[in-house]
Amino acid sequence: MSMQAWVIGNWKQNPATSNDVSVLLDELLSKMGTQKQTGTTTSNSQCKLMVAPSCIHLSAVSERLASSTILSAAQDISTYSANVGAYTGDCSAQQVADAGATWTILGHSERRQYHKESHDCLLNKLSHAFSENLGVVFCIGETQTQYNEHQTLDIIDAQLSVIKDLLVQQPHLISLLSEKLIIAYEPVWAIGTGKVPTVEEVSKTHQYIKQAIAGFASNVDNITVLYGGSVNASNAGSFAADPMIDGALVGGASLKAESFLAIANAFDQANA
Ligand code: 13P
Repeated sequence: MSMQAWVIGNWKQNPATSNDVSVLLDELLSKMGTQKQTGTTTSNSQCKLMVAPSCIHLSAVSERLASSTILSAAQDISTYSANVGAYTGDCSAQQVADAGATWTILGHSERRQYHKESHDCLLNKLSHAFSENLGVVFCIGETQTQYNEHQTLDIIDAQLSVIKDLLVQQPHLISLLSEKLIIAYEPVWAIGTGKVPTVEEVSKTHQYIKQAIAGFASNVDNITVLYGGSVNASNAGSFAADPMIDGALVGGASLKAESFLAIANAFDQANA
């Protein structure tokens, strides 16, 4: 990796209880403290950490992490309103920001699959997030069938067109993108499967994504692009070594402090 690295934990619908959340945070914070003291992490830590808990745990997690360097994010926000309204079950950009989130994940493949999130739905969500000053981790990636049929880059173009259209509607957002937008490339077939593309494949796709964004936001020449899908403590180093891979969006391995921090250390070391 070549720029500020990010390692982001997407906790999905985990853990089961608020007590389990506390235990995970205890472990994360105490291991980070120990690493600092023993110098087992690089002194000028280059890797930014973020966790995205379930909405129900967001306030508690944000409060607990307020005095740490770990940021907190929502996993999603309402498409219907940036603030309040009659939208049963939804949480708005304003509400998650008020709960302490500074970022939100949007367009995760599980949302696209189970909640049928469309182009217009995501266009609204992006707009609401930026209107409440949240950063956005925007997830894209092809399914197994699309991969087999060599449609990856077409799918990425279609998914990135949400950002392109947002910038047509709100050109002033272009100047915010390099700070407020992170793309997470997550091939659907690599999520939770233990299957991963080669580093070379990921690298080429990331280069394509960076060029595509520079194509419709000309001053954004190096957007942060993370890889996600079965990232673990053993394979993180190989992804971290590639200059096109600016970090990782981690699911399963983010639920244990040890593996999450091992992934962070792999990105720290690649940058040292
Ligand atoms: P896994 O790391 O469990 O494969 O999940 C990746 C993911 O979907 C992160 O958003």
